[in-house]
Amino acid sequence: MHFPTINLVLCLLFFQPFVYGQLDYRFYDYTCPNLTKIVRFGVWSAMANDTRMAASLLRLHFHDCISNGCDGSVLLDETSSFRSEKDAFPNRNSARGFEVIETIKANVEKVCPKTVSCIDILTLAVREAVFLTGGRYWSVALGRRDGLTANITAANTEIPSPFESLDNIIAKFTSKGLNIKDVVALSGAHTIGFVQCFAFKFRLFNFSGSSSPDPSLDVSLATNLQTQCPNQDDSDTRLVPLDAVTTTKFDNMFFRNLVNNSGILSSDQALMSDNRTTDMVINYSKYPFLFAKDFADSMVKLSNVGVLTGQNGQVRDKCNLVN
Ligand code: HEM
Ligand SMILES: *[C@@H]1O[C@H](CO)[C@@H](O)[C@H](O)[C@H]1NC(C)=O
Ligand SMILES: *[C@@H]1O[C@H](CO)[C@@H](O)[C@H](O)[C@H]1NC(C)=O
Ligand SMILES: *[C@@H]1O[C@H](CO)[C@@H](O)[C@H](O)[C@H]1NC(C)=O
Ligand SMILES: *[C@@H]1O[C@H](CO)[C@@H](O)[C@H](O)[C@H]1NC(C)=O
Ligand SMILES: *[C@@H]1O[C@H](CO)[C@@H](O)[C@H](O)[C@H]1NC(C)=O
Ligand SMILES: *[C@@H]1O[C@H](CO)[C@@H](O)[C@H](O)[C@H]1NC(C)=O
Repeated sequence: MHFPTINLVLCLLFFQPFVYGQLDYRFYDYTCPNLTKIVRFGVWSAMANDTRMAASLLRLHFHDCISNGCDGSVLLDETSSFRSEKDAFPNRNSARGFEVIETIKANVEKVCPKTVSCIDILTLAVREAVFLTGGRYWSVALGRRDGLTANITAANTEIPSPFESLDNIIAKFTSKGLNIKDVVALSGAHTIGFVQCFAFKFRLFNFSGSSSPDPSLDVSLATNLQTQCPNQDDSDTRLVPLDAVTTTKFDNMFFRNLVNNSGILSSDQALMSDNRTTDMVINYSKYPFLFAKDFADSMVKLSNVGVLTGQNGQVRDKCNLVN
């Protein structure tokens, strides 16, 4: 082989393993070597004050990535040229964790100014959040850049709603390059965190014109939820755990609950009744390590949806404002 050819081969051999698509596992190794530690500490502190923060960050990241890609657009405040995604229906009065990302970003700016994007910080933060609640750790390739705008229409139409069919939800994922397995695995995020009564109350009283609750909801759970979410408007914003059994633990209990008709959202319970997803739900309910692995793999895919790299976008100074 010619010398240059050997060089090229060595180059591929040694450098390929560090990249994922356009992203690079060593992106900030020289420019911000302590990044991971700073993010870990920020997430840890936030969770020490509020254990729910792990769930809130995980959801924030999903909402950013599933609507026009992982570009930190969900973090932007309203300006004269665009409306904030924070005001979209799926986010308003429910998305949380903005100040945690802002605090971590400020700490990162102190040691590595103008270097690390907000979306890379959010991506690293959810990996830490899942790990700190008992889930698996995964490698995060870096180098995403922050978007220059937000799109409230995209947030309203592309983020799945708990009132829509599984067909619709699957279509929202596949349009982003994710598949049915990703839908099922990522839905396992509902093993932590909370939901407001309004998102599932229609299942509790006079379901579908009947005089009883949704038959696909376990009877004693339904009774329990009727007490937590009484049939009156002022119960709409009360919070109920998405996984009543191990609320703060990142395990496969979400799937074990679905097998027992104990999914809170009807869109989640639908995963158990649809013949495209039933076997995956059963497998995840039986094999926690299979779920842990598939969840990590799907998070890596989700974190790569529509990323901006190279000269596209920017590295924001503050996560809520375009520079
Ligand atoms: C598949 C379609 C999905 C639907 C319909 C859905 C819907 C919802 C709803 C309605 C809530 C409660 C929000 C509230 O009441 O304020 C919620 C919470 C949550 N979602 Fe999802 N979700 C979906 C997928 C996902 C995915 C893929 C993830 C992450 C990978 C995720 C992570 C979470 C978490 C962690 C919470 C709890 C947040 C907290 O306690 O602050 N969800 N979801
Ligand atoms: C990284 O953190 C260590 C302490 O954990 C510190 O000694 C070192 O100076 C930091 N490096 C940079 C580049 O900030
Ligand atoms: C701690 O959590 C509460 C909500 O549970 C929040 O209002 C408060 O700002 C948090 N404090 C810090 C220092 O993060
Ligand atoms: C915002 O998102 C909507 C829905 O995805 C899309 O049709 C529209 O073109 C987007 N607007 C901009 C300015 O990108
Ligand atoms: C679900 O069902 C299994 C087997 O029937 C049972 O061992 C388990 O306790 C049930 N879990 C819940 C949360 O009801
Ligand atoms: C799944 O169910 C649908 C009807 O709900 C049926 O048309 C389809 O053939 C079934 N597919 C499999 C693989 O069983
Ligand atoms: C579930 O696990 C079994 C083996 O335990 C495997 O044969 C099957 O293909 C799996 N099903 C799905 C949908 O992953």
